[in-house]
Amino acid sequence: MKVLGIETSCDESGIAVYDSDHGLLADALYSQVELHQKYGGVVPELASRDHIRKTLPLIKKVLEKAGLELGDINGLAYTAGPGLAGALLVGASIGRSLGMALDIPTVGVHHMEGHLLAPLLEDNAPEFPFLALLVSGGHTQLVEVPVLGQYNLIGESLDDAAGEAFDKVAKMLGLNYPGGPLVAKLAEQGNPGRFKFPRPMTNRPGLDFSFSGLKTFTLNTVEDHKVDGVIDEQCKADIAWAFQEAVADTMVIKCRRAFQHSGMKRLVIAGGVSANIRLREKLAAMAKEEGGELYYPGLAYCTDNGAMIAYAGCMRLLAGQQDDLAILAKPRWNMETLPALTNS
Ligand code: KG4
Ligand code: ZN
Repeated sequence: MKVLGIETSCDESGIAVYDSDHGLLADALYSQVELHQKYGGVVPELASRDHIRKTLPLIKKVLEKAGLELGDINGLAYTAGPGLAGALLVGASIGRSLGMALDIPTVGVHHMEGHLLAPLLEDNAPEFPFLALLVSGGHTQLVEVPVLGQYNLIGESLDDAAGEAFDKVAKMLGLNYPGGPLVAKLAEQGNPGRFKFPRPMTNRPGLDFSFSGLKTFTLNTVEDHKVDGVIDEQCKADIAWAFQEAVADTMVIKCRRAFQHSGMKRLVIAGGVSANIRLREKLAAMAKEEGGELYYPGLAYCTDNGAMIAYAGCMRLLAGQQDDLAILAKPRWNMETLPALTNS
């Protein structure tokens, strides 16, 4: 089955074709980062309008790359949520209409399921069951995944998502949007150990996270080290290092706990922040200590992309799931309500 995937939930238009027999055939991404950069974050209305401009040309490009015609596609998957309502509506309208015009089964995919399953596109794919740490711009969640399609939430952030915290710290340090990769790059120049930031919510039981206190701690450190309103570059790098280290250590502590509570041995990390090399290193070391293994998507498939939606959609369509003619756009959508897929 060849499935066309359409992702437009935020500031990236991502298109891909996934073939259940031959894997990923082609994909393409258009990032709106430059459009939003001058506003310091995503402007929803601008995002929707740009998805309208870019989605159809990208679909044509991906079909060409794959050497396919529209008529060769036999399944359609689009991101139905969660995300920005207007942005979702663009992909959903195009996806559902194409599905109807081509008379092929169509499914609205949960964006976080897409992220979570992205490591299954890799050669070294995890088997079920596994634990998943989903860390993106909008979510920080620990999920137990007993079988394909069933997601039991065992921990989440009570306030900011990890990616959001990275983006806000980037702003404090005068870096551009999206800040995560830039904070990570700056941290490479940082002196380890100059600052020690708190590891929030780690000295009490439970698997929930909180990043707003760490964010305030970071802001106070920035303010305390300004001289005549300016902070020097080395100090910025030292702060970036301490912040990244605190986030990574916090995740290591919670994931170790989740390993020990669940008895599972496989941990998947996915979502934009899973591109963070320091986080990967630390989680991989912890997983090894616990006798387990860490799995993650290739760097290009950590942040939003069409391949993860085509793949997740393909799994659901193969299991016989498909939607009626409604155009689904659910800005808020709980993953735990998704139907498990029985053919896993
Ligand atoms: O998954 P994603 O592309 O979009 C959402 O679904 O939200 O994640 C974007 C987030 C942004 O907050 C970005 O700053 C963060 O992922 N991010 C990173 C890195 N690369 C992207 N955060 C830390 N380190 C990175 N290398
Ligand atoms: Zn995402």
